[in-house]
Amino acid sequence: PSRTNVAILGMGTVGAGVARLLIDHGDRTARHAGKTIWLSKAVVRDLNKPRGIDLPEGILTDSIDEVLEDPEIDVVIQLMGGLSPAREVMLRAMEAGKDIVTANKALLAEHGGELFTRARQLGRSIAFEAAVAGGVPIIANVSQCLSANQILSLEGILNGTSNFIVSQMDEKGAGYDETVKVAQDLGYAEADPAMDVDGTDAAQKLAILSHLAFGATVDWRDIPRSGIDGLDPADLRYASQLGYRIKLLAIARLVDGELELSVGPTLVRKGTPMAEVRDAYNAIRVVGDAVGPVFYHGLGAGQMPTASAVVADVIDMAVGRTPITFQTLEYFSEDRPARAVQRD
Ligand code: NAP
Ligand code: HSE
Repeated sequence: PSRTNVAILGMGTVGAGVARLLIDHGDRTARHAGKTIWLSKAVVRDLNKPRGIDLPEGILTDSIDEVLEDPEIDVVIQLMGGLSPAREVMLRAMEAGKDIVTANKALLAEHGGELFTRARQLGRSIAFEAAVAGGVPIIANVSQCLSANQILSLEGILNGTSNFIVSQMDEKGAGYDETVKVAQDLGYAEADPAMDVDGTDAAQKLAILSHLAFGATVDWRDIPRSGIDGLDPADLRYASQLGYRIKLLAIARLVDGELELSVGPTLVRKGTPMAEVRDAYNAIRVVGDAVGPVFYHGLGAGQMPTASAVVADVIDMAVGRTPITFQTLEYFSEDRPARAVQRD
């Protein structure tokens, strides 16, 4: 067919960005996909809420069934957030013959095993570049570009909201509560921002990356974690006086063949690339045994950076490129677990 029909489930921060790219920049998607990517439906709960984008008539609906029962829709872009009904909807969509693109890392960290197994059984694909580090193409890099390596370590800032809050407090003396509110207004935070500031979101992303990088099946709950919610402004001041910044680092490293995992506020020496990552930027330092260290840096949250990753996955689907992530997950069978070890 000369066009790939897509539906977006969820027109919040990310969904509206994806619609904007598909509608305003259809020429780009056509150039790369060789055919039109056609936005057929966009599903929301509240039809009266302003979306900040002019959608062609007939696209917006509050019926998920309308999408699932439409045989013309090829790809479902799942951007609703949360576990339910997102899980059930993804299963139903795949059973109805649709491929999935999603940014929902909480869902993949919780139910990834089930969803990918079902996708394999049904011959369907799930792509999720946007689920970790927003616009930074870390999923593709870890699973494909570095595949000749044994990854030795992976550490980084994986939560944009926390980094935004800590940067604002550290450099501008901003208050914690007011900065959480700004992060919400800017579209960086999760629907429940507690998941950002208590380290849950970073742990979920680390579990996903660990699966791809190390072949480890990690339950994100087993990752020892603390967030920035317990930080005192005095901690940031004292750290600064000693020449450090405090960053919420997610760390996975192989030590004597075992995988050590942790998420927590960490002292990082000023002037190093990781210490200078500001606002909602994310950064990941990966060390491979052949390539050595590689550093990735870019916006990890927010509307258009996240939409950039989502639409790239949609283009891959339209072109017929099997998502890299799907192949990798097949390669890493579930009999290759690694142990999460507490770090001091
Ligand atoms: P959001 O702004 O809260 O938007 C969620 C959207 O889903 C809303 O449009 C909502 O409809 C719709 N929705 C929720 N439940 C629904 C249901 N049962 N039926 C129909 N529609 C439903 O969230 P977001 O920030 O765009 O994030 C979406 C996903 O991307 C999440 O999984 C998030 O973790 C992930 N993500 C976000 C970012 C970011 O920077 N924001 C970055 C990477 C990944 P109404 O508007 O009508 O309520
Ligand atoms: N709430 C997430 C963050 C969105 O702040 O990093 C990107 O996954």
